[in-house]
Amino acid sequence: MLTSAGCNALDYLIESVDRIHCVDLNYRQNAVLDLKLALFKNGDYNMLWEFFGDGKKNNAKDIYKNKLSDFLQPESKKFWDLKIKYFDGGLFRKTFYYRGASGILAWWVSRYLKSRPSLKKKIDQLLATEDLLAQKIIFKSLEKQLFSFPLNTIMNRLSVLALAGVPKSQFELVSSNGTEKTSDYLKDCFQKTFNNNPGAKNYFYQVYYYGKYTKESCPEYLKEENFEKIRGQIEKITFSTESINDYLKKSDIPFTHFVLLDHMDWLVANQPTILEEQWNLINSRSSKHSRVLFRSAAKDQSFLPKHVFNNFSFYPGVEDVQKNDRVGMYRYTGLAIKNPN
Ligand SMILES: C[S@@+](CC[C@H](N)C(=O)[O-])C[C@H]1O[C@@H](n2cnc3c(N)ncnc32)[C@H](O)[C@@H]1O
Repeated sequence: MLTSAGCNALDYLIESVDRIHCVDLNYRQNAVLDLKLALFKNGDYNMLWEFFGDGKKNNAKDIYKNKLSDFLQPESKKFWDLKIKYFDGGLFRKTFYYRGASGILAWWVSRYLKSRPSLKKKIDQLLATEDLLAQKIIFKSLEKQLFSFPLNTIMNRLSVLALAGVPKSQFELVSSNGTEKTSDYLKDCFQKTFNNNPGAKNYFYQVYYYGKYTKESCPEYLKEENFEKIRGQIEKITFSTESINDYLKKSDIPFTHFVLLDHMDWLVANQPTILEEQWNLINSRSSKHSRVLFRSAAKDQSFLPKHVFNNFSFYPGVEDVQKNDRVGMYRYTGLAIKNPN
């Protein structure tokens, strides 16, 4: 699977998987995963919560030096030796979740929204309610304010999307039907998310808006009842900094699952041959009935290389899965299942 920030890999351990290998081109993502692994190995639940639940920890530097740094891979250690201050709780960007490129964007947007009392009131209500009907009403009135000048103009800028981790090729997929602007696309995404899922449990948006999680609404790996279960299996996770293709080329074990997130959107326009190669590798490294999970800004799976459809069938119930999507930034969630030979 892609590492991203490692939360998904840790959550999968709760399902008692055999082994997980995480791969990411970006060493920073692996460093974040590695720090989380170190907290499970040599920290305790409260420490994990302060670092990654609250996003800040008193004396982070000392704790890092005395308890965590020895458990890190050299590349992660090099990163955190310089960046452990992210957990100090700065004057402005008060938590870890407001650091890094997308953190700056989250901080800036949340500051803007919080500085407008009528917006702030509605967003606080939206992210606290369990009542879907009430939520629809709140969202409707919020929508008018959110999707008007100047936020609309900002959302349509490529540079802002780059901060959010949306590269140009993905932006092109969003606008692939001609006139659709990013702001229209986002409006549609927010509508689907907030009309179907209670805001009170939407930690994906809460963490960006408030800069931290709460114990009632957070990823599974941050829940106290899962701490020991994850700690007992932490050695099942390995990771490497490289591309999926480079990793698969070296690997000769069959995989049961591949979790690709949205990264194929990054390849479609610019590197179709890499995408082609990737699916050849996935096909040859798959075990029987292997599953490939991904999402995309495209409207369906038709952007995939043609040969994929000879070897994989697509799970038909994607619309039901999409309804539970609490991020809602993608038009399509795909689950490809390897055909029996
Ligand atoms: C694709 S982004 C997805 C983030 C997005 N918000 C999501 O959850 O769907 C996740 C990570 O994939 C990594 N990545 C992108 N293309 C990759 C590739 N070909 N091989 C390995 N990692 C890749 C990026 O460095 C990034 O850290």
